[in-house]
Amino acid sequence: MIPQTSPLASYLSNRPALDEALHRVLSAGRYILGEETTAFEREFADYVGVPYAVGVGNGTEALHLAMRGLGIGPGDEVITVSHTAVATVAAVEMCGATPVLVDIHPEFYTVDVASLEKARSDRSKAIVPVHLYGQPCELEEITRFARKHGLYVIEDCAQSHGALYRGRRTGSWGHTAAFSFYPTKNLGCLGDGGAITTHDSSLYEKLKALRQYGWNESRISRSTGWNSRLDELQAAVLRVKLARLEENNARRIQIARTYHHFLSRIPDLTLPSPMARTTHVYHQYVIRCAKDSLRNRLMHFLSEQGIQTAVHYPMPVHLQPAYVHRLPGSDSLPVTEEVVGRIVSLPMFPELTDEEVARVAKAIEAFFSRSV
Ligand SMILES: Cc1ncc(COP(=O)(O)O)c(C=O)c1O
Repeated sequence: MIPQTSPLASYLSNRPALDEALHRVLSAGRYILGEETTAFEREFADYVGVPYAVGVGNGTEALHLAMRGLGIGPGDEVITVSHTAVATVAAVEMCGATPVLVDIHPEFYTVDVASLEKARSDRSKAIVPVHLYGQPCELEEITRFARKHGLYVIEDCAQSHGALYRGRRTGSWGHTAAFSFYPTKNLGCLGDGGAITTHDSSLYEKLKALRQYGWNESRISRSTGWNSRLDELQAAVLRVKLARLEENNARRIQIARTYHHFLSRIPDLTLPSPMARTTHVYHQYVIRCAKDSLRNRLMHFLSEQGIQTAVHYPMPVHLQPAYVHRLPGSDSLPVTEEVVGRIVSLPMFPELTDEEVARVAKAIEAFFSRSV
């Protein structure tokens, strides 16, 4: 079976360095907010190109605390997309704010910038662009729109570690940005983890308090807070993985090129097409079939050939039972609703071999040569 993703392969390919890092932490005896977390925060901030990074418990908490840190709360609206992990929308509600949903661009699957104006109201406080699948959003237009209307930009970088928009990394464009280090991500740990990046020193100080009961340096809570900390074991793992992120992203891009080479002549398929002047880091390689039925048959066929695929995501947030009929904007998301039945994520992780990639591509070619 060729898996769609493999955190185990990532562990095995870094095993000696990871085992050494884990043992170093175990023997040091400090497991929460110690030297490893501080070092990782510094290295990650440098990598993203910002002065500050704060390690937190996971990507959902990174979004939640980033918004809390900016003072977003009840009565505020936050504009985002429905074609995303449910966490993006859930984090807005964790702050007591209202998510307002907009449609996506049909080619890039990221926020349709043209929809922002009609979603804006007097209560809008922020935009959360999601760099889905590793494809950066139109950050220049989004930040221009936000500046014009006095809105914050909180980038959801859970799938875009290392992606570049006009030469600058995602995570360095907004007022702040949230990262997830869930094990399958481009930068993934061996459990849950997340981080928030920012250029703003006062937000940085607030975030450090928010992640730990609102504590100041003397362990006194001047404000209320939460408990959401990146632990030392995960920070040590992330330091090893961060050192290989560029190499791993380059491998993902190479795999994407191979898929493109094999699949670009199939008329019933739309392949990912990176936006000009961006570096797409292919957290997922998502192809789109001309019809829903074709997508379902393709997935079934590939599964029979021992090739695992997935759908990111099978149901837009606004149609899921927990959210249905209650989020503003939900009634006009035609592109979101159309793509969801047609997309499929192919196997994509750096440890895939060239032979495996070719096997996947050839199986897809075989499927379409029979079905057409
Ligand atoms: C786009 C997006 N946002 C947020 C999250 C939430 O991250 P976590 O699972 O670490 O809470 C994820 C992870 O699945 C994601 O893909």
